[in-house]
Amino acid sequence: MNIILLGPPGAGKGTQARRLVDERNMIQLSTGDMLRAARISGTTMGKKVAAIMDAGELVTDEIVIGLIEEQLAGDSGGGFIFDGFPRTLAQADALGELLAKTGKKLATVVEMAVDDDALVKRISGRFTCGKCGEVYHEETKRPATEGVCDQCGASDFRFRADDNEESLRVRLLEYYKKTSPLIGYYYAKGLLQTVDGLDSMDGVAAQINAALAKVK
Ligand code: AP5
Repeated sequence: MNIILLGPPGAGKGTQARRLVDERNMIQLSTGDMLRAARISGTTMGKKVAAIMDAGELVTDEIVIGLIEEQLAGDSGGGFIFDGFPRTLAQADALGELLAKTGKKLATVVEMAVDDDALVKRISGRFTCGKCGEVYHEETKRPATEGVCDQCGASDFRFRADDNEESLRVRLLEYYKKTSPLIGYYYAKGLLQTVDGLDSMDGVAAQINAALAKVK
């Protein structure tokens, strides 16, 4: 089953995608993670997008569509979770074409609705494990043992360069201008389901599982 997790920055897409990977053998395709990996490895593309990402703006459709195209050719296991992609109508059209070309289809689009005040709190308290990428929060999800990642045991926590108030304001504007039209786009295609992203992490996971059960 191939699904999209759609929502503003900090809605909890990455957190829920990682749970679906563990529970359902799905493959997470996060364009944000792919772009961050490209930055770290110092590729030409990575250098090109670094400043754009730090400012909170969207990188070009051409780059992210290319990243997704490379991944879709591989085995989908229990299906793909598109996390942070598509983010524009052009990316959504391209995804439809790529899926059709590879004989795959989209089962559903889960919109994670979270109000803006909660997003600011979530983003400002977020940190991640530098080794395995597990996502934490200073208030709502601390590691069980202080300073040690629950998943991989590493002690290398990092804050994202774009998790500051100025960049978040730009990311939110980009979301409302360019990504939120996808809610209507997928509603019109009969693929949209909405969950309350303000619920607890377990509560949101239960809502997503209920949404996926409807489309099997
Ligand atoms: P990306 O990495 O995709 O960032 P994003 O969409 O802004 O989303 P986030 O990763 O910030 O949030 P999330 O929804 O995954 O929330 P999380 O689970 O971490 O993109 C970064 C940049 O890359 C973009 O700005 C752009 O420049 C570029 N880019 C990426 N894709 C692109 C594309 N397709 N086109 C163009 N440019 C692209 O949770 C947030 C925090 O809240 C965590 O601390 C977590 O522990 C906590 N939390 C999660 N759920 C809950 C809950 N239910 N209750 C309480 N706390 C919670």
